[in-house]
Amino acid sequence: MLIRYKKRLEKIAMGLLSFMPDEKEVKRLQDTIKEYETNDQWQLFLWKEEDDVLGAIGLIVKEDNKSILVQHITVDPSHRNMGIGKKMVHALEGFFDESYSIHANEQTERFLEKCKTS
Ligand SMILES: CC(C)(COP(=O)(O)OP(=O)(O)OC[C@H]1O[C@@H](n2cnc3c(N)ncnc32)[C@H](O)[C@@H]1OP(=O)(O)O)[C@@H](O)C(=O)NCCC(=O)NCCS
Repeated sequence: MLIRYKKRLEKIAMGLLSFMPDEKEVKRLQDTIKEYETNDQWQLFLWKEEDDVLGAIGLIVKEDNKSILVQHITVDPSHRNMGIGKKMVHALEGFFDESYSIHANEQTERFLEKCKTS
C-alpha cells in the first residue's frame, strides 16, 4: 500500500531515491529529501508490503491548478517487474481526486507513458 513518507523512513527513502539517474550524489540526495520534508508542495509516498518498503514516488503537487508532477519513481531492484511501479502510479488516485492532472518530467515520462497504456 502507498503511505506518506515519514522521517523515520529517511534512510530507506534515500536508498530508493538514489536509483534515480539524477540522484546519485549524496549532497543532491540530502537536498532532495530535505525538500520533501519541508516544502508542502513536495510530497513523497512509499510503497509498503508487510514490513518492507519497496518503492517510492515523489511529486510536486500544485493545489492552485490541481497538477501533480511525478518527479521521482523508483522500485527496489530485487522487486522490479512485479507491477509495483504501476501500482504506485494507480494508487495516487486514492490520495488525489480525479480533478488533478498527472504530469511527468524527463526522467519519469517513459515509465508514466507505459503506465497509461497498460
Ligand atoms: C521504472 C521503475 C520504477 C519501474 O518499476 P517496476 O515496479 O519494475 O515497474 P512495473 O513492474 O510496474 O512495470 C514493469 C514494466 O515497465 C517497463 N519499464 C521499466 N522501466 C521503464 C522505463 N524506464 N521506461 C519505460 N518502461 C519501463 C518494464 O519493461 C515492464 O514492461 P512490461 O510490463 O511490458 O514487461 C523501476 O524500473 C526503477 O526503479 N527504475 C530506476 C529508477 C528510474 O529510472 N526511474 C524513472 C524511470 S522513467
